[in-house]
Amino acid sequence: MRVRKAIIPAAGLGVRFLPATKAQPKEMLPIVDTPTIQYIVEEAVASGIEDILIVTGRNKRAIEDHFDKSLELELQLGHKNKDELLGLVRDISEMVDIHYIRQKEPLGLGHAVYCARKFIGDEPFAVLLGDDVIKNKVPCLKQMINLYEEARYSVLGVQEVPPEHVNRYGMVEATTEREGVCRIYDLVEKPEVGQAPSTLAVMGRYILSPRIFDILAMTRPGAGGEIQLTDALRSLAKAEAIYGCLFEGKRYDVGDKLGYLKATVEFALERPDLAGEFRKYLKELITE
Ligand code: G1P
Repeated sequence: MRVRKAIIPAAGLGVRFLPATKAQPKEMLPIVDTPTIQYIVEEAVASGIEDILIVTGRNKRAIEDHFDKSLELELQLGHKNKDELLGLVRDISEMVDIHYIRQKEPLGLGHAVYCARKFIGDEPFAVLLGDDVIKNKVPCLKQMINLYEEARYSVLGVQEVPPEHVNRYGMVEATTEREGVCRIYDLVEKPEVGQAPSTLAVMGRYILSPRIFDILAMTRPGAGGEIQLTDALRSLAKAEAIYGCLFEGKRYDVGDKLGYLKATVEFALERPDLAGEFRKYLKELITE
């Protein structure tokens, strides 16, 4: 079966970005001029996803408004003959079918995914985490779908991280199958430095077998008192195969202030309308 549906969990409180996230969702913070969640939706669409479920929480209405039609704005832009901006605004609301469900309590990533079980039904599906923005010509999720179509088992997007950063990620125990592909036997959520089974980290991209829902239904709260997707994946790895896709692409942790700043600078340097002036400014700043 083809991977047609994706879940984007977006119920987190965004405490790492307070006070900016006190009254607006962290997913709406822009990189240059585009909200981070739009990059995630664009990656899903470019990978062939047809329906997206965004799992939201309180204070997340701006996300729905962003992907909705804005009649007033379209009318204004039309009157003023601002065709380019009009196209831009329309494209966002016509990109893909987006559905919403609320996670009523912040019980963790595993619980957020579990909230989507009725929407997904009995088919393989993708999960994309909003804090991980990944840039590459062939989208990360597309690379993973290509592997899924060959393997027909769950696929996690993984990349090497420095040994001192293993406590920030779900880390995998895996063996190499071939270049760019590994078989995952076990996982551990945010191990202490020196305790990780490898330096391969899960990077916020998953293609999962629907069997994960039965497992999530029985998964007890783990690290941080939350229902962890990683814990459910451990059980899944015992029941059926899980593969790792060492995807190509640069990944930015936009949930972290430094990662967010890096993404902003690098994305701006690739924008034809900004790159020249901005590069000049940065050079001047450094040589001052
Ligand atoms: C989540 C997952 C973790 C994964 C990470 C990727 O953690 O629980 O396994 O490696 O995303 O960004 P979070 O960063 O939400 O704490």
